[in-house]
Amino acid sequence: MQNFRSYEERSVDFGPGVNILTGRNGAGKTNMLEAVHILSMGRSFRTLNDAEAITFGKDFYRVKGLFEKWGEDLTVEVKMGGRDKNYFVDGIGVRKGADLLDHALTVIFSPDDLRIVKDEPEKRRRFMDHELFQLKPLYYLDVIRYRRIVRNRNLLLKEQTLNEPLLDVYDGYLAETGARIMAERARFAQRLATISAGIQSRVTEDARSLGAGLAEVVGGLEVSYEPSIGFEDPDGIEARIVGELESRRAKDREAGSTTAGPHRDDLKIVSEGVDLRKFGSQGQQRTAALALKLAEVDIIKEETGEMPILLLDDVLSELDEGRQRRLPNSFEDCQIIITTADPPGALTDAFPDALHIEVAPSLS
Ligand SMILES: Nc1ncnc2c1ncn2[C@@H]1O[C@H](COP(=O)(O)OP(=O)(O)O)[C@@H](O)[C@H]1O
Ligand SMILES: [Mg+2]
Repeated sequence: MQNFRSYEERSVDFGPGVNILTGRNGAGKTNMLEAVHILSMGRSFRTLNDAEAITFGKDFYRVKGLFEKWGEDLTVEVKMGGRDKNYFVDGIGVRKGADLLDHALTVIFSPDDLRIVKDEPEKRRRFMDHELFQLKPLYYLDVIRYRRIVRNRNLLLKEQTLNEPLLDVYDGYLAETGARIMAERARFAQRLATISAGIQSRVTEDARSLGAGLAEVVGGLEVSYEPSIGFEDPDGIEARIVGELESRRAKDREAGSTTAGPHRDDLKIVSEGVDLRKFGSQGQQRTAALALKLAEVDIIKEETGEMPILLLDDVLSELDEGRQRRLPNSFEDCQIIITTADPPGALTDAFPDALHIEVAPSLS
């Protein structure tokens, strides 16, 4: 890292197993995870404006990672200066962040993620999207394209006299791109449903045997895609979107925005007939969120044959002891980078072979 947040210059060697970053609050632990995340996803998980990560008073940052993948070395580098961001894979410039997505795979788990189930639909869409971005870079391009079409369509809807033929054109694009997005999300939700149901019972059983509070226990988890435009057959999605846009045209015109489509999708999360999004206890919502994140790891493993690097930001201290102890087993074989501001006592028990890395600010 160079000029990256609190680091003027710092390099770190992570071990292949569990790495525990310790240091007081504000020491720069999350900054370090953020750097790894940028190498994986091309962007930060903390801010939409990556320029914020440039060290105060400097005019660029550079983050470079040396990975090992399939027994081969892989270098990824991201450099940001002003509003320009440059990406390099094995020293060769690539055009955009999307070109990094399928190189170094990571799953980030931050305290925010414990609220996936409780928060607004946008969080759950982002959860689906982030996973799919890494699995299918083409999906990423579709999402970018889709957002642009919706933006332009909304502008058009706000104009004084409506250009209907142009709106027809936009609707066609929107339906075509939206249909691909929805089909991927539907497939993903199905995989998620199967895997998270299994994980859920694992986590729950464990919670029971460890005597965790009953309020935390959730029965079988049922996850399903809740598209804003319903469909029966994936082949018919595009036509469904066209139909829906047509029937909503007057309404959209009045609202000055596109009132249905994948940008309004959600993921439904139910346990024993109860919609956990609205009616789950906080404990149930967090347990379910944990199951979803664990499922994410499994899906990446299954679809790519690769072990993602797990980035756990302060989440262990938010879980009860039973789940803390349980978590490592779920992540066997993964390289893990964990941050904690607590004295690493419980973590050391859970991960006796972990590499401890003391994080202290290099700026003073
Ligand atoms: N752009 C920046 N330039 C310099 N320092 C920064 C920048 N952004 C954040 N910081 C510093 O990084 C520190 C927070 O680091 P962080 O990794 O979040 O801490 P923690 O160890 O608690 O996770 C704060 O002290 C903050 O001032
Ligand atoms: Mg932190």
